[in-house]
Amino acid sequence: MSVESLDDHERREVGADDHATHVEQAVYIYQAPVRLWHWVNVCSILVLGVTGYLIGSPLPSIGGEAYDSFFFGWIRYLHFVAGYILAVGFLFRVYWAFVGNKHARQIFMPPVWRVSFWKELGHELSWYAMIARQPLKYAGHNPLATLVMHVMFIWGIVFMIVTGFALYGEGTGMGSWQHTFFSSWVIPLFGQSQDVHTWHHLGLWVIVCFVIVHVYAATREDIMSRQSIMSSMFSGWRTFRDNKPAEDE
Ligand code: HEM
Ligand code: HEM
Repeated sequence: MSVESLDDHERREVGADDHATHVEQAVYIYQAPVRLWHWVNVCSILVLGVTGYLIGSPLPSIGGEAYDSFFFGWIRYLHFVAGYILAVGFLFRVYWAFVGNKHARQIFMPPVWRVSFWKELGHELSWYAMIARQPLKYAGHNPLATLVMHVMFIWGIVFMIVTGFALYGEGTGMGSWQHTFFSSWVIPLFGQSQDVHTWHHLGLWVIVCFVIVHVYAATREDIMSRQSIMSSMFSGWRTFRDNKPAEDE
């Protein structure tokens, strides 16, 4: 169905009988590695967000010898462990984009060359703005989700990994792989170490904005869209609320 024919479609869609229809159709979209990666990624970003915030805005010092509690040391240590998990997980996710199913590639390659992509994206925007009465139906991500995940998440995470390892390489020092592959060019590119700290810190707020919008959209679509959302990221299966054809199947 094209966006142009939506009005006709809507009229047919909102018929009382359609809501009573029980639909068994299901499509397997999120393979186990993508689901596992998603939830590991969520945990590591939560740890990175909290510990990163505390690195940038430390709590008041606690009494006694720092050595006895190693409090700030633990905060930094957790940040670095979660940073490694995030980076290795992301490399794995890139690999899976090559070997996985077509939905595993979606957030890496939004089809921006297609006119229909932009038209459907416009429709999603009006659906989220509560102007359109009916959402379009997708087996994979909708175009708006695909684009936001690509720009804010993929590029946001690449930025955080590159700047994070550049800062890390300052500690491990010249000759370490972190310094050779990251600090040696990232720090001069930004100017000096403090600039990289500032940009890495700003990246935190980009990720926080993404997570707020993402969780809101996932919750809203779980209730209002024409397909399953939350359960799909646990089971891998997408189920539908009506039996009309999906845009991307
Ligand atoms: C979503 C991902 C990440 C978030 C939200 C995040 C957040 C932050 C924040 C807010 C800071 C404080 C910056 C400042 O004000 O000086 C920080 C520092 C730092 N982060 Fe990250 N970070 C992320 C990923 C990473 C990764 C992948 C690494 C690589 C190991 C990393 C390594 C570091 C290092 C080395 C510091 C400086 C620690 C210090 O100066 O004591 N970060 N991070
Ligand atoms: C740090 C927090 C989070 C980040 C960075 C994140 C990131 C992502 C990314 C990148 C995807 C695309 C998966 C892919 O195609 O590879 C995704 C999908 C999804 N996420 Fe999250 N997520 C986060 C938290 C959550 C939470 C807390 C929930 C549940 C409340 C959630 C529910 C979902 C769902 C349901 C999908 C699939 C959406 C769809 O079917 O179109 N996410 N998330």
